[in-house]
Amino acid sequence: MDEACAIVNEILLYLSEIAKPGVSTLFLDKEAYKICKEKGAEPAFLGYSNYPASVCISINDEIVHGIPREDKIIKEGDIVSIDFGVKKDGFFGDGAITIGVGKISFISHNLIETAKDCLKNAIEHCKIGNNLGEVCYAIQKCAESRGFSVVRDFVGHGIGSKLHEPPQVPNYGSPEDGPALEEGMVLAIEPMVLEKDWKVKVDNDGWTVRTQDGGMAAHFECCVAITKEGPKVLGSGLI
Ligand code: MF3
Ligand code: CO
Repeated sequence: MDEACAIVNEILLYLSEIAKPGVSTLFLDKEAYKICKEKGAEPAFLGYSNYPASVCISINDEIVHGIPREDKIIKEGDIVSIDFGVKKDGFFGDGAITIGVGKISFISHNLIETAKDCLKNAIEHCKIGNNLGEVCYAIQKCAESRGFSVVRDFVGHGIGSKLHEPPQVPNYGSPEDGPALEEGMVLAIEPMVLEKDWKVKVDNDGWTVRTQDGGMAAHFECCVAITKEGPKVLGSGLI
C-alpha cells in the first residue's frame, strides 16, 4: 500500500504541475492513465461503479467526482481538486490534492490551506486505542473554527485489498464515537471543506458533486496506517 500510495502521490504532484490555464481536464486524466500503466499499476477509479475515467477532477464549486472532459479547460483563478487511486500488486492507494491556478482569491487560498490543515490534524489522532471519532472530530473542528463547513454526504474510508473498506471515516463526529483504532488499520482520510453551506447536489452526468449554494470546495486525501510507532502516512510529499 505504501508503494501504491507513492505512485498515487507522484502522479498527483505531476498533475498539479501541469494543471495550467488552457489545459483540459481530459489531458490530465490521460497523463495519469499513461504514467500509472508505466509503473505497473492499475487506475483504481476507472470502471468503479462504471466511473468513466481514471481521475476525478473537480473545479471551484465542484467538490468531488468531476469527470474529465476535453471541453473542460482549466483557467487562471480556478481551484482544482484532483483525486486519484491505483491498485498495485493487489493493494490500493488513494489520494487527493487541491491546487490554486495562478492568482486565486484570498478566500480560496484560505479554504485550501484549511482543508490541508484538517488532514494534518486528523492524522495526528491516528493512534492505537483512539476512537475513530477523534479523527473525524479533528477535521470538523479545524474547518468550522475557521468559518467553513464539512461535507456530510461523502466520507473517507478504510482501504486495503479493496478501495473502500470499513470503517467509514466521516468529516464530522464526536470524540466519543468508535470504533477504537487498532494496529494495522489503514484509513483513507479525506476532508472535503466548503466555503459556505454543506448541502450538495449531483449534476446530470450522475457523478459531479457540487455545492448547492455555489460556494468553493477543497479536498485533500491520504492513506494513514495505524502502527505501534504512531500514524504512518503512506507515500510521501503530498501534504
Ligand atoms: N475518489 C473516491 C475516493 O476517494 C473514489 C472515487 S469513486 C469513483 O474514495 F467512482 F469515482 F471512482
Ligand atoms: Co478515497
